[in-house]
Amino acid sequence: MCILVFGGSGFIGSRFIKRLHETDSSVIINVDKLSYASDQTNLDFIKDDKNYIFYKKDINAKDEIREIIIKHKPKCFINFAAETHVDNSIESSYEFIKTNVLGVQVLLDLFREYHSETKNNKLKFIQVSTDEVYGDLSKSDSPFTEINRYSPKNPYSASKAAGDHLVFSYINTYKLPLVITNCSNNYGPNQHREKLIPKTIYSALNNKPIPIYGDGTNIRDWIYVDDHCDALIEIINSKYEFNHFNIGGNCELENLSLVKKICALLTDKLNNNFQYEKLIEFVNDRPGHDYRYAIDNSFIIKNLDWRPMTSFDKGISSTVDFYLNKYQHE
Ligand SMILES: NC(=O)c1ccc[n+]([C@@H]2O[C@H](COP(=O)([O-])OP(=O)(O)OC[C@H]3O[C@@H](n4cnc5c(N)ncnc54)[C@H](O)[C@@H]3O)[C@@H](O)[C@H]2O)c1
Repeated sequence: MCILVFGGSGFIGSRFIKRLHETDSSVIINVDKLSYASDQTNLDFIKDDKNYIFYKKDINAKDEIREIIIKHKPKCFINFAAETHVDNSIESSYEFIKTNVLGVQVLLDLFREYHSETKNNKLKFIQVSTDEVYGDLSKSDSPFTEINRYSPKNPYSASKAAGDHLVFSYINTYKLPLVITNCSNNYGPNQHREKLIPKTIYSALNNKPIPIYGDGTNIRDWIYVDDHCDALIEIINSKYEFNHFNIGGNCELENLSLVKKICALLTDKLNNNFQYEKLIEFVNDRPGHDYRYAIDNSFIIKNLDWRPMTSFDKGISSTVDFYLNKYQHE
């Protein structure tokens, strides 16, 4: 049996394929349209493996994806394919709606068709989503649980919330075995340079200003990407029929403290006494910038055999090593 991964050539998808390949002998099919955010070199370790097949396709190409499903008969669909950069969604939300909403609808209809033809109740569809759909929190609010109302505040989170609502509606209407996961901010290898951590390291190495929105006090809850992927693998293998999990790393940090920590690690690792913090430049805040996200992950910890295993200090140190190596060789 095989696992059908959509968006496996991006940041989290490529780490998911790596973790899955290390722990499972299933055939892995990766369907990705190879947008600017993808990087096929992330998958060099598996590209020649007989248990790995890649298709360059858009998730909206319904007939072509149906053919892939008929040919490979997957036991599980997992969808990472999305437009993911909030700043781009503020420039224009068109591509976000096409992939994060209409694309999800295409995959759901294909899964519905496949489920009704095979009558296989062991099939699963996992929609990988974000904590941003819940909106934002004040400092004193409790972290998001699975029963928080969705209240997205920017076009990216609104498009992800719309995709998730379609999934909830298909669970309710068609009684399909679909799961939604809402995860906090991921960090680790393979992330596109537009995102905060790689951008900070790239700017520092190139002696460029390190931009921070507003006053840097916005808070994000960070999880090491492999911990997220392990939670998804646990959900795929679990016998339980829960439809909704929050996944988080119990690690809230202000953006400014995160960037300062990276600067200190760079000085330490490059052994050069340069104070990279001097490159920090506060820039005009992102319009509608959410103040704080925080995930309560007690439901998944209670019900599945999973918890975040990577301490922030260990994860951020190996992440900095990864980008130092990557950017110093570019
Ligand atoms: N990065 C995070 O911190 C985070 C946190 C929680 C949830 N998520 C969710 O996890 C998923 C993956 O995020 P990421 O950070 O790896 O994103 P990413 O931008 O790094 O990768 C997205 C991948 O999807 C592909 N893709 C985009 N549109 C497509 C389409 N129409 N058809 C086929 N492929 C398409 C891209 O080519 C790329 O390989 C997204 O759904 C995102 O909303 C991300």
